[in-house]
Parts: sequence; C-alpha cells; structure tokens
Amino acid sequence: MEKVLVKTEKSYECLIGRGLLKKCGSLIKETVSAKTIAIVTDDLVDRLYSQTVEVSLKQQGFETVKYVFKNGEASKNISVFSEMLEFMAQSRLTRGDCILALGGGVVGDMAGFCAATYLRGVPYIQLPTTLLAMVDSSVGGKTAIDLRAGKNLAGAFYQPELVIADVDTLATLKAETFADGMAETIKYGVLFDREFFDFLKENDASGELEKIVKRCIEFKRDTVERDETEKGERALLNLGHTIGHAIEKCSSYTVTHGSAVAAGMCIIAKGAYRCGLCEENIYDELVSILKKYGLPTESTFTSEQLFDMALSDKKMKSDGITLVIPEKIGRCRLLKAELSLLKDIIEKGTGNED
Ligand code: GLY
Repeated sequence: MEKVLVKTEKSYECLIGRGLLKKCGSLIKETVSAKTIAIVTDDLVDRLYSQTVEVSLKQQGFETVKYVFKNGEASKNISVFSEMLEFMAQSRLTRGDCILALGGGVVGDMAGFCAATYLRGVPYIQLPTTLLAMVDSSVGGKTAIDLRAGKNLAGAFYQPELVIADVDTLATLKAETFADGMAETIKYGVLFDREFFDFLKENDASGELEKIVKRCIEFKRDTVERDETEKGERALLNLGHTIGHAIEKCSSYTVTHGSAVAAGMCIIAKGAYRCGLCEENIYDELVSILKKYGLPTESTFTSEQLFDMALSDKKMKSDGITLVIPEKIGRCRLLKAELSLLKDIIEKGTGNED
C-alpha cells in the first residue's frame, strides 16, 4: 500500500493500493474514533461494494447507517442534498460520528458537502471507486452540489479525515467511466509534467494504476498545499473546465465530466494558440493522447452556446474570468481575461479555419 500525506489546514493520508475495501474498517479505525459511520453511496456502487464495506466496518465495532441515491450527475441537486441532511438528522448522527463517501465524484462531492454543513461540520472519509474520484475529486476538499444555473455553484472547501483508494474497484468500471478519469489524469501531464504525459502516451494506463493514481494525488497535493482555497495557483487544476462545464450544462449533463473536460482542453489549447497566447501548439498531441484513451476532442455545441453557458461559471468575476492557458505540455499559466477574449478563444477553438 502506498501513502501520500496531504498537509492542508487539516492533514490527512491518502492510501492507495489493492484489496483496501475489505480492510477499510481497520484502516479507518487507525484514524477516526467514530461510533457510527454513515455510508453515502449511489445505487450502482451500493450493489457492488456496500456489503464489503459494512462487514469490514462492523468487524471493527463501528455501527453503520446508509444513505443511497440514484447514480449520476442529475442527483447532485439541492433536493437530494436536503434528503441526505434529513437522513443524517433522523439517524441522530453527531459530531462524534463520521460520514463515509463510497463512490465516484458525485458521491464524494455531495457527501463531503453534507459533512461540511451538517451540524456545522462532521468528519468524513473519502472512499473513491472511480478513477476520476481517485485522481482528483476525493483529494483537496472541494465539495459541492449543482444549482439550476450551473455546476458546483454551492459548496465548501472541507478536507476529509482520510482517503482510501482501492484500485481493484476500477476493474468494474465501464470503459466510458474509466476514460473519464483518464481525462483528469492526462490533465496533470499537460499542467505539470512532460515525462508523465509521455508515460501515459507510451504505456497502457490500466496496467499501471497504483503508480498513476499515486502520482496524480502527489500533483494535487503539491497544488492544494500551496493554495488550499483557490486564491491563486489551485485554479490551474481547472484546465479545460470552464468550457468543459459549459459542455456538460449544454448537454443537460448527458456528456460526462471527463469527456467534457477532454473536449474543453482541446478547445482552449487550439483557441489559445490561434489567439497568440501560447508558446507551442499542443493541440495535435493532446488530441492524439485523448483519442488513445477513447475521449472526445470536440463538442457538438456551437461557440455561441458554449460562451453563453460559460458565463455562469463560478470562476466568472464582474471584470472577466481567469483562464488556464496551456503554454506547452508540462506548463500552463493563469490568465485574467476579459469576456471578449474568452469568446474569441471559444470561437477559434471550435472553428476549423486557420
Ligand atoms: N478539481 C479541481 C480542484 O480540486 O481544484
């Protein structure tokens, strides 16, 4: 088992390995002194893994309760969130208890926000079961729900007590869900490390999961330790996300997060280069690696639709938006841009003309 220590306002370990689900009870007992653990999960993950987790927790003397909601981004709304809070209250969960997020990014975001707000904060643990949640959303303490106006518009920075990434759970993922996580994995290569990007290009990521998950968590740790609440450089992690979130919203969330981020990275790379904002044109290389992992490299929406939707992005300020510009593979920079520049980038990034 590998460990990565994240030293934010609250320090916590991320454990990465195989067979961790069935010993999660003892791993949790080493860190958390809860009486009851409230498992939050979705219906798909519930069928696959809840029993293993419950048995392991009970073996260590924890009592358990469980809240299950329907799988998918459509559940990440205020009414499911409100039901979740009511469930915690009906279960008489106290600050001496703990919430456990068992599932992918939606489960982690919602359970984390529930933990941040219920009783003004109870401890929680992330047990991610998708690649996307392991490499990105379970680490760093971003929690949220979507509002009608856009994605992740209500939330909190709230760090977990522990993250347990059992890469064996990735074996049951649909190809599309695995690819989703690869979009965020490739993103780290574009942001920080040419060598890591080349490794993903030259190898089959599914054969190197522990190594890849650990490396991605290290990239994320390094960023959030320096900027926990996104005052500055943490915003780099949003590469491809402004346009990606617009794609998700335009599609009524039928396009998944990773697919949208993949297309978003391609649009910003092409658009920024054509606007003269980058040193190198990384577009072709990006397209090639994303295709290798079965990810889309363009969107079906018009530049007008994407721009309109991007206006509700939470990174938008009255005087513009901070964009992540890929300068070359392994280096990106933040750029405060006026809306007219964002419009130009989206137009040039979605168009075919040179
Ligand atoms: N997913 C981007 C971040 O955690 O900052």
